[in-house]
Amino acid sequence: MRRRDFVRGGMAAAGAGMLSTAARAAPVDLSLPKDFVLGCATAAYQIEGAVDADGRGKTNWDVFAHTPGKIANGDNGDIACDSYRRYPEDIALMRDLGVDAYRFSIAWSRIFPTGRGKPNAKGVDYYDRLVDALLASGIQPHATMFHWDYPAALPGGWQNRDTAYALADYAGYMAGKLSDRVRHFMTVNELRCFTDLSHREGLHAPGLKLPPAGVNQVRHHGVLAHGLAVQAIRAKARAGTQVGIADNMVAFTPVIETPAHIAAARTATRVENAMFLTAIMEGRYIDEYLRQEGANAPKVQAGDMAIIGSPLDFVSLNVYTPEWVRADDGPTGYAVVRHNAASPRMASPWLVVGPEAAYWTVRNVSEMWKPKALYISENGASTDDAMANGRVDDADRVMYLRGYLSQFRRAAAEGFPLKGYFLWSLMDNFEWADGYSKRFGIHYVDFATQRRTPKLSAQWYKEVIRQRRIV
Ligand code: FCB
Repeated sequence: MRRRDFVRGGMAAAGAGMLSTAARAAPVDLSLPKDFVLGCATAAYQIEGAVDADGRGKTNWDVFAHTPGKIANGDNGDIACDSYRRYPEDIALMRDLGVDAYRFSIAWSRIFPTGRGKPNAKGVDYYDRLVDALLASGIQPHATMFHWDYPAALPGGWQNRDTAYALADYAGYMAGKLSDRVRHFMTVNELRCFTDLSHREGLHAPGLKLPPAGVNQVRHHGVLAHGLAVQAIRAKARAGTQVGIADNMVAFTPVIETPAHIAAARTATRVENAMFLTAIMEGRYIDEYLRQEGANAPKVQAGDMAIIGSPLDFVSLNVYTPEWVRADDGPTGYAVVRHNAASPRMASPWLVVGPEAAYWTVRNVSEMWKPKALYISENGASTDDAMANGRVDDADRVMYLRGYLSQFRRAAAEGFPLKGYFLWSLMDNFEWADGYSKRFGIHYVDFATQRRTPKLSAQWYKEVIRQRRIV
């Protein structure tokens, strides 16, 4: 018998022997907590387009994307999803899904085209209109101040400490403008990406490959910018405004749920994220990091670490790929287990599938640092979507999302303070160095016509939101 036939025969046999409904135990409760926020996420450079509209200044990403050889297929964000003009249509998509909230980012260079100085009223107006339209549709706005696009005129970018102060001034200014309507602000998105990927790997704007001391200094300016922005937002925002960060700490996940492996994964989380989230949550660089970097450790000025450790109202995590960890006899007590060529992945080569990472990131952060609240600011997957007869049946994305959301639900059900989830992404968009070759949306975007079509995954998410449970 061929394998296929065997499976078919097996299913028929199992069907015949199934338990009667009466004999079955009650179904496992898959409901989400009451008040659990369900939303979608995007970022300015990935969706807005309109790069020359209304006085917007050039950014690092405009420059990088127009440098030959940097982006797949020579793509750029000049038009992207044209959401700067089509945002009412995009809000209508969300209204149809029934989401509670929308996470978007503000393009710094629309507000301060050269990074500082006189604000550009037309840029501010855009976000005013966006926020008003969201609220009119019953959707809570959650704003990220910096999702990687900064004004190209800022001298030295993140290599220059002054950029951290410029970001804080801009963030404070926008909090002053929007906090009468926006209750949640995130300072920066994914420290590791705008530092390491951009200044060590050279894969993202500005595409540098600095030596270790230079990379560590950029990292320091990144966490400093976050801390300064927390303080600036608090100083300028309405009382009660919630301030946090959206970070993608490496999601160390125990290979087996036994005390030894669980402890190993927790240690790895703290040590391997020492330059980012650990520094923010503990207000210091831990010895392991300083010892490892030696003479290349960042130059820290008096008072920096207290700023970096400014208390947060919430921590948001972007969760995609697990790093499997096992207990080990060596000096660190843990070993990271390599992914193999055949490890399950979605369409992006970096996106290894491991839903347990969802549960363990929430649990590790909660147990180590006791944040007041946690959100998932991003989770989603790229798939090779094809439109056929007007449909995109992305069953693989549904599988991915259901697996991860189930594990987030597990964390919330166990009492960890997880308050909400933002799916990446509302629609296909400019996926950085991959250009338009990787689609993460639950709405399909035809980039030639800008037509948006809900995929099967949008139908799934709508049902999750309607029933408030995993479906
Ligand atoms: C994250 C980014 C986001 C998007 C997803 C797929 O690293 O924050 O902008 O590109 O990955």
